[in-house]
Amino acid sequence: MARFGSRISLPVLSSYLALLLLTVASPALAAKKNLFKTCDSSPFCRRNREYADAASCVKSSIWDPPYYIDPLTVSFDSGLLQGSIFKTIPDADTPIEFPFQLVFLESGSVRFLVDEKQRAQASRLPGFPDNLTQRRYNEASKWAVVGDLTPDDSASESSTAEQRAEGVFKIKYGPEKHFEAILSCKPFRIEFFRDGEAHVVLNDRGLLNMDHWQPEPPASTDTNKNEQNEFAEDKEEETQDTKQQPIEAKGAPTSSEWQDKFGGFTDKKPKGPEAIALDITFPSYEHVFGIPEHADKFSLRETRGGEGNHDQPYRLYNVDIFEYEVDSPMAMYGAIPFMQAHKKSSSVGVFWANGADTWIDIIKSEPADNAFSLRKSTKTHWMSESGVLDVYVMLGPDASSVYQQYGALTGYTALPPIYALGYHQCRWNYNSEEDVLEVDAGFDEHEIPYDVIWLDIEYTEGKKYFTWWKSMFPTPEKMMQTLAKRKRKLVAIIDPHIKKETGYKVYENMSKNELAIKTSEGKEYNGWCWPGESAWIDTFSPKAIDYWKDQFKLGKFCGSEPNLLIWNDMNEPSVFNGPEVSAPRDDIHFGNFEHRDVHNIYGMTFVNATVQALQARQPRQRPFVLTRAFFAGSQRLGAVWTGDNAAKWEYLQIALPMILSHGVAGFGFVGADVGGFFGNPTPELLTRWYQAGAFYPFFRGHAHIESKRREPWLFGEPYTSLLRNAIRMRYQLLPSIYTAFHRASFEGVPVVRPMFLLAPDNEDALGIDDQFFFGETGLLVKPIVEEGKTETDIYIPDDEIYFDYLDQTIYQGIGYHHIDAPLDKIPILARGGHILVRRDRYRRSSSLMNHDPFTLVIHLDKTGNAAGVLYLDDGETTAHARGAYLYRFFIFNAQDNILRSRSMQPTNQNIKSYEKTIDTVRIERIIVVGFDKTQLKKSGAVESFQDRKSWLTEIDVTEAGDGKASVIVVRDPKVVVTGDWSIQF
Ligand code: NOJ
Repeated sequence: MARFGSRISLPVLSSYLALLLLTVASPALAAKKNLFKTCDSSPFCRRNREYADAASCVKSSIWDPPYYIDPLTVSFDSGLLQGSIFKTIPDADTPIEFPFQLVFLESGSVRFLVDEKQRAQASRLPGFPDNLTQRRYNEASKWAVVGDLTPDDSASESSTAEQRAEGVFKIKYGPEKHFEAILSCKPFRIEFFRDGEAHVVLNDRGLLNMDHWQPEPPASTDTNKNEQNEFAEDKEEETQDTKQQPIEAKGAPTSSEWQDKFGGFTDKKPKGPEAIALDITFPSYEHVFGIPEHADKFSLRETRGGEGNHDQPYRLYNVDIFEYEVDSPMAMYGAIPFMQAHKKSSSVGVFWANGADTWIDIIKSEPADNAFSLRKSTKTHWMSESGVLDVYVMLGPDASSVYQQYGALTGYTALPPIYALGYHQCRWNYNSEEDVLEVDAGFDEHEIPYDVIWLDIEYTEGKKYFTWWKSMFPTPEKMMQTLAKRKRKLVAIIDPHIKKETGYKVYENMSKNELAIKTSEGKEYNGWCWPGESAWIDTFSPKAIDYWKDQFKLGKFCGSEPNLLIWNDMNEPSVFNGPEVSAPRDDIHFGNFEHRDVHNIYGMTFVNATVQALQARQPRQRPFVLTRAFFAGSQRLGAVWTGDNAAKWEYLQIALPMILSHGVAGFGFVGADVGGFFGNPTPELLTRWYQAGAFYPFFRGHAHIESKRREPWLFGEPYTSLLRNAIRMRYQLLPSIYTAFHRASFEGVPVVRPMFLLAPDNEDALGIDDQFFFGETGLLVKPIVEEGKTETDIYIPDDEIYFDYLDQTIYQGIGYHHIDAPLDKIPILARGGHILVRRDRYRRSSSLMNHDPFTLVIHLDKTGNAAGVLYLDDGETTAHARGAYLYRFFIFNAQDNILRSRSMQPTNQNIKSYEKTIDTVRIERIIVVGFDKTQLKKSGAVESFQDRKSWLTEIDVTEAGDGKASVIVVRDPKVVVTGDWSIQF
């Protein structure tokens, strides 16, 4: 195998190593805190937090928040309530006006949008920087939202004239008008009711706060600018000075906020402070979830200190936080400002459509003495650096409805090609064509299926994307053709930093056409990343997108073949020598918006350009792109992984809560580097990681350049067999996994499901995040994630019957159940009532399974019923969008003990044409768990019916006993997957 040589240019390596050393040399937390802001070193966060503290010390009946609505400005028409919020300024004659809209959408969500009047108007404000767009950035929704935003004119006003005169406006909306929004003008708040109960309250605590444009005050020319290192003293002085200040003054920026110094960088902030903040309360909801990406528990913690809590808010700011801390609210690679609240039988959600640096404080308050409910309430406080205030409220009523509502706004998971759901083999790096093909052959030699092999940055000539390192990859097209013959794909990495080098056409043309991100002075922004000095393609620009698309053309991207797919990394963007390892906030993007406004969206625009490029290159194929950075809406574009973890048990543990968090926030096609990126896993850790990873929606082994090789056969027996078994189990379940992705693609329900999706009433299970339900299968999986552990307790959240998936032991009763889990066992219970569909034959890759027969595994529920679905199509092309797919429903009915197969799709020509390609594909085996054989109509056989014909098939029966359920196996019942048939048991 070729060894990695001296391929990383020295300056770059040293800058990356410097970052690494920082984390190694000092305690990780301290090092990260120097590199990345805390709320205290982020002026707008610190200020809004202090404002919240001050407000909370005062009884709301005494404190009069400076923001109010003048009822005379309010009007309601055709699903749109609008008016103006005013902010009083001490000693000023006129208040500042912020026009708002409350838009009742057809999907049942409500949008609350607030802008700043003076900046939205056409005339230029004196002193506003000429080179920047004056209006607040209002395009986060443009990138994130694809759903219909026109108001629903069936929403109707329910307030009386008297109430309106008192400044109270009530609107009934949503399905059968079950929802109601009540807006009160003074104090300003909006309550959202479902069936008479308040579920979400905006501005409950009166923390709405929007900075308004004002030229830099003279005092800011002094030395009082925000400087991280001086902060401790500043804060001391400020506390003395501001003790006597009225509360609203604490909410206003001081002159120090017209410039921000952090980590040796100066952010010029030419538009001055422009933060927005609002509090959102979820009354009687103790648990909230979502807002990925954080390496933390699934049920989000409080953030104002106390045992088990954080003392920093959760932060959303896309950063390259290699070897991230676990159990932390720190920002990571991606940002989805969507939060779900769940309590017994009720779920709601909010989406904060803002792409700027965002912090979210969470506290839980005890119920008031006179409160109807005994539950705590969750109170959140959202603070963003810039942009308009744009919040969407979803009232459920259940978790699936919330996902559907959020998906109706931001889109659903793109249905992946089926190979993308197989196993992916990656490392930094496979160093040559021989290396790639040897690894590829290794899988066949060890009879381990896999679909995709990956190339990291070293395949390029000097990290110049769209080129090949000729001495190691002289004939890439041949390498890809060999893989194609074996029905496998290649993914190559392409990052957004473009090497600044004379003669490198990709750079030269981008630069000439001014398609890169610019500095605050309007010049091309240059920084450091893998290739050394680089520029970053500005994929907010339509011209830049076209340019990017052009690079991928089959004839232009030399050496690339149709089975090449793409990995977009470092797209936060990661800039080794930039503030917080990213681009400066005062950089400028297309449209003359600052980077601060769009920072969290940039990564998504880059993937969007790549996806468009692949679509243009092969219009009939579904694209596959993996991204590291993401925003709300990224689920429409491809897959994501959780970045640079390490080969340590705590990273295996945190992967699942992270995957759950991504899933509820709409981005369910997610995985973690199996084995851990940094370091070297022990064989036990690697085994447990493969066993967990086989259930990650995205399943990829990956390793750092300095990690030892660890292809699944390198540890020898018993590990090779254990890893093989885990991967093969994944392939067996592919039909069910694909079916779950299909559901995610139109309903938004995640593939890895939290307890509350199947047991919505069980509040004790809300904090459980080390087990999950897998897709539609009813499998309850609890991977072992602790060293040396060979047993576990698995929590059954409802009173359904469960069976050990591997040995059919029966478990029943809400609570923990003990289960053995030696190294060769993944603890999995199958919930009664589900029919899962498998393909049990070993093939080298997923597409070679296309004509394999199916096995139906039926776990009967406690009443003897079960149901399941199967979605199937060609797995790669876009023909499914034109109806070329199969969608079947299987139901086992306890009334007559008949298993039926029925179609769930309207018939049309495309279905027929697809069905023809698989009309000989059989159901080769049916396994029924929990059926009492004395109920069989014909002893020893089942009778099948199709097209007025019937026939008998013998069965094998394993009697129940010793705590295990009975199992009936029907071998080759001679029915095909495309047919409507019935089988009498
Ligand atoms: C950082 C990514 O997180 C990692 O997966 C990749 O191997 C390196 N960049 C090199 O491209």
